[in-house]
Amino acid sequence: MKRIRVAEDIYMLTMNVEGMLFEGIWEIGNGVTLNSYIVKGDKTAIIDGVIGWDGVPETLYKNLEEINVDPKDIDYLIVNHMEPDHSGWIENFKKINDDFTILCTEKAAKLVSSFYGDSTNIRVVKEGDTLDLGSGKTLSFHPAPNVHWPDTMFTYESDTKTLFSCDMYGSFGRMNEHHFDDEMTTEEVEFFETEAVKYYSNVMTTFTTMLKKAIEKSKEFDINIIAPGHGPLYRKSPQTIIDNYTRYSQYAEGAGKDEITILWGSMYGMTEKAVKFAESVLKREGIKVNLLEMPLESESEMIATVFKSAGVIIAAPTYEYKLFPPIAAAIDELGRKKVSNKAAFRFGSYGWSGGAEKELAEIVERNKMKWDFVESVEFQGSPKEEDFDRIEAGILQLIEKMKDKVVE
Ligand code: FEO
Repeated sequence: MKRIRVAEDIYMLTMNVEGMLFEGIWEIGNGVTLNSYIVKGDKTAIIDGVIGWDGVPETLYKNLEEINVDPKDIDYLIVNHMEPDHSGWIENFKKINDDFTILCTEKAAKLVSSFYGDSTNIRVVKEGDTLDLGSGKTLSFHPAPNVHWPDTMFTYESDTKTLFSCDMYGSFGRMNEHHFDDEMTTEEVEFFETEAVKYYSNVMTTFTTMLKKAIEKSKEFDINIIAPGHGPLYRKSPQTIIDNYTRYSQYAEGAGKDEITILWGSMYGMTEKAVKFAESVLKREGIKVNLLEMPLESESEMIATVFKSAGVIIAAPTYEYKLFPPIAAAIDELGRKKVSNKAAFRFGSYGWSGGAEKELAEIVERNKMKWDFVESVEFQGSPKEEDFDRIEAGILQLIEKMKDKVVE
């Protein structure tokens, strides 16, 4: 755990978490940070927490001691969001301090006791409520429902104009020496851009409608610093991460980078021959191509890559009268994540019978994905010359179709 000064009398406690699946599902090969914030006035508040799930680390005491805070003197716990990556510390914190007030939304308050046992000192806050900590530090509270759970809120500190945005404006990826946007190298900026796309697509994209409202809400604040619960802080250009999140919300609704992702699977190499041909056509046309072979690719990477692409090619055979199962599962997961309106094209082989096409249509319809498909190409066994011609024609149509969806 590290302590970083954010502004006058505001500190971040942050730790990198690795070697686990985020939410028990998402592979985070580059880790993730959990950020917590201490705001000191005459009273002291801690916003979200990073004590850890397995106890109270010595580094917490050390870090607090160095900023002259005794854990027993922390008066307020601000719970922006009850997901345990932010709130899992409450149970352990109670072991070192049993005299504090929790401030959270009404929906969060209902979860506190069910997650961590009875807590009598809970103050439910509503839009615009404030907490005066003294010495010029005033916090205000602003519910931002479904960013990412219904209980979520922003906390804003008016003296330093810091927005504590919790999951909003967050990113996967471990932080090393650099924690602020103005400290990052070009490589680190690119790293966190990639990790933010993965984070948004894996964790947040289902709630894009509400995230768009939260983006508008955050524009109402006069912001010097955005301090999220995961990833870097933005003080040189808070607008950059607001713009990036705006773009991600567009990706969720069908826009994307000028890239085509081929989401593919093949049983005996027949569909794979057509994949290789499709890749050569895309390269000839100067389109960046991402290849995702299922089921070898992680679900996390699959969602992030399709999410950020303006065009998608689904290359998969019929398997037992249906769509090749790893591809069916991938499309269904994209549907559950509400990745909608993508320009798409499917091809694939069949043996004695088709069926893949019917199941694909069912999945897309059931999830209300509204993907805009070019007419599919199916071929019996290995693709022949005329099949390659039809695939090439489909790809060229897809490239046309995705042109007005490109947002970089
Ligand atoms: Fe970072 Fe929804 O928890």
